[in-house]
Amino acid sequence: MSDEKRTAKLEIDGKTYELPIFSPTAGPDVVDIRKLYGTAGVFTYDPGFTSTASCDSTITFIDGDKGELLHRGYPIDQLAGKSHFLEVCYLLLYGELPSPAQLEDFESRVTNHTMLHEQMQYFFRGFRRDAHPMAIMVGVVGAMSAFYHDSTDISDEWQREVASIRMIAKMPTIAAWAFKYSIGQPFVYPRNDLDYASNFLRMCFGVPSEEYEVNPILSRAMDRIFTLHADHEQNASTSTVRLASSSGANPFACIAAGIACLWGPAHGGANQACLEMLQEIGTPDRIPEFIARAKDKDDPFRLMGFGHRVYKNFDPRAKVMKQSADEVLELLGIENNPILQVAKELEAQALADPYFSDKKLFPNVDFYSGIILEAMGFPTSMFTPIFAVSRTVGWISQWKEMIADPQMKIGRPRQLYQGATLRDYVDIEKR
Ligand code: SDX
Repeated sequence: MSDEKRTAKLEIDGKTYELPIFSPTAGPDVVDIRKLYGTAGVFTYDPGFTSTASCDSTITFIDGDKGELLHRGYPIDQLAGKSHFLEVCYLLLYGELPSPAQLEDFESRVTNHTMLHEQMQYFFRGFRRDAHPMAIMVGVVGAMSAFYHDSTDISDEWQREVASIRMIAKMPTIAAWAFKYSIGQPFVYPRNDLDYASNFLRMCFGVPSEEYEVNPILSRAMDRIFTLHADHEQNASTSTVRLASSSGANPFACIAAGIACLWGPAHGGANQACLEMLQEIGTPDRIPEFIARAKDKDDPFRLMGFGHRVYKNFDPRAKVMKQSADEVLELLGIENNPILQVAKELEAQALADPYFSDKKLFPNVDFYSGIILEAMGFPTSMFTPIFAVSRTVGWISQWKEMIADPQMKIGRPRQLYQGATLRDYVDIEKR
């Protein structure tokens, strides 16, 4: 954070208050209001935090106007094209690209933590078979603190490191087992001779009765999808993890809170909602009907996979995802996928419509991801769990950054109170 040189002047009832202005390495300046209530006796008001920086961070930066996403300064399109998910995990966690030796050690540590405590199997069996995999993930991840109690002391740096590796390593197994449980197939154990994405695909689609041959095209696409969803500044689920962690709660419980938040259709649940919307549209001739509904103030329907709080230009992840969708579907011989055609036509018609262009509504990361995942064989119910597997490294990186910050204090927002003022209780006989 730069030195306090500039100030903002706020005048209230004839009195002027000076508030420090900090300049970041990138992005808007911030006005430090931490002493505002103590000096001026007023709160600021910002439901949805549209103009509020909740923390300072060095992990990810988004330039919404340019449509730029940087992880530790590296643009997402370069990472998606040249790196791979576990290397991006290392970058997010430790701040720099790893040397070959560092990467080998990190990948070995993750690989050797992919198994779950055998007793956790019985946790899955408590759910109905038709339970949504996200419901299972919230429950199982929250329960991890009961199984891995030796890495819950957040004041111990080594325990924080162990919990971080455990979370990143075990999430694919938990997500795959939630899927297997929902389709009544036996759990498939992770293999240490497979890379992260291949291991996940095998745990999802392999069966004990035959060898599972990993398709390198699908494995590369899976790894790229993990990379594209890894972290994204202080989005709703990351902010949930930070707020939960600020009370000192253990990391597994805090990640479970993040999974719960991600599930919402306005956030990580949008990839499932988007594919279901595209399937409901069905054919290009129905697109105008849905665009009209999205524009209708009286209709709660929104175009799923469109719009973003920060991006007022193309979401760079959507660009990479669109290229990947074309490649994967062509390589799988389903380039004429009718849903992909509907998506492309919907995008073209929406972007040509002043309603969307004036409001700067562009496709986001969720617009094309579902098409690839469905082509890979995943049911829509597995789209958000896959998002959660990837975002775990983002949640953990942001959690580690916050816990290590000596200025960290419990998050406790205030409010604009609009309720009843002081009044006396009225006995029921007198009401
Ligand atoms: C993710 O924060 C992150 O970084 C999230 C994420 C990540 O990686 O963590 O990027 C992942 O969650 C992506 C977003 C996935 N959600 C969706 O695709 C759902 C559809 N999108 C919308 O719900 C909406 O765009 C949000 C929630 C994404 C953003 O909402 P905002 O920032 O609160 O914007 P808003 O609701 O104030 O919308 C501004 C205007 C409104 O119209 P007016 O009231 O100004 O007339 O744009 C309209 C909205 O009605 N609008 C849409 C729209 N999105 C916004 N109209 C139609 N369709 C849409 N999709």
